[in-house]
Amino acid sequence: MALAFSLAACGNSQNDTTSASVSQEPITSQSAQAAQLPEKDASSSGEDESGSGSKILIAYFTAAENSGIDAVTSASYTTVNGTSVGRVRAVADMIAAETGGELFSIQTSVVYPTDGGELIDYAAGEQDANARPELTRQIENLDQYDAIFIGYPNWWYDMPMVMYSFFEKYDFAGKTIIPFNVHNGSRFSSTIKTIQELEPEATVVEDGFTVSERTVADAAGDVASWLDELGY
Ligand SMILES: Cc1cc2nc3c(=O)[nH]c(=O)nc-3n(C[C@H](O)[C@H](O)[C@H](O)COP(=O)(O)O)c2cc1C
Repeated sequence: MALAFSLAACGNSQNDTTSASVSQEPITSQSAQAAQLPEKDASSSGEDESGSGSKILIAYFTAAENSGIDAVTSASYTTVNGTSVGRVRAVADMIAAETGGELFSIQTSVVYPTDGGELIDYAAGEQDANARPELTRQIENLDQYDAIFIGYPNWWYDMPMVMYSFFEKYDFAGKTIIPFNVHNGSRFSSTIKTIQELEPEATVVEDGFTVSERTVADAAGDVASWLDELGY
């Protein structure tokens, strides 16, 4: 099964924006803990809204923030400017740096295996069961956001099942959803279409940002160009 991703990755290598290798050195428990909670956290943003629809939210799911804090040997991290972060979080940080948007880490009561092979199998089981992992964090004051960047890894040619929990919980009618993802060859698969089906009254931007797990650490320039083209 993992072989399928590798083969797919070869077939799509022309889409990778750089050839730099991504460090997957073990991370320290301190940096793992740092990766657990975003600095600017929309779940605790309090009462500072300045009116409806004026702010940008960047909601993302990454295995690294859903594997417990004992993730020091997990391969689910990349190193950006010397800091170890989950790969999807790395892209979320790049979007936040350009837009000033607030980060929201999608988290679940499921503690995902840190071992890559075990995670592959576990995720396959979730998909087979059409599971809806329980969300443990809430977006506060959704009304204040009109543009919502939503990031996730490609898992088994689809979104992780927790993203279905997420889209079923929140109604993004009238808002603009801007997808981004990290993959190992399959890019978005058909997930953008799926999001539009799950959120029929939202405007879902089809020109999402997708990047290989191998080049995500060096994606900041491409993220900035993409945002420019979208007008952010
Ligand atoms: C359970 C699982 C399933 C995956 N399935 C695919 C896939 O179908 N296609 C693909 O291109 N990459 C696949 N990948 C690779 C991930 O998309 C890639 O490693 C991504 O960087 C994970 O993001 P994260 O490290 O922030 O969690 C899979 C990875 C995992 C762990």
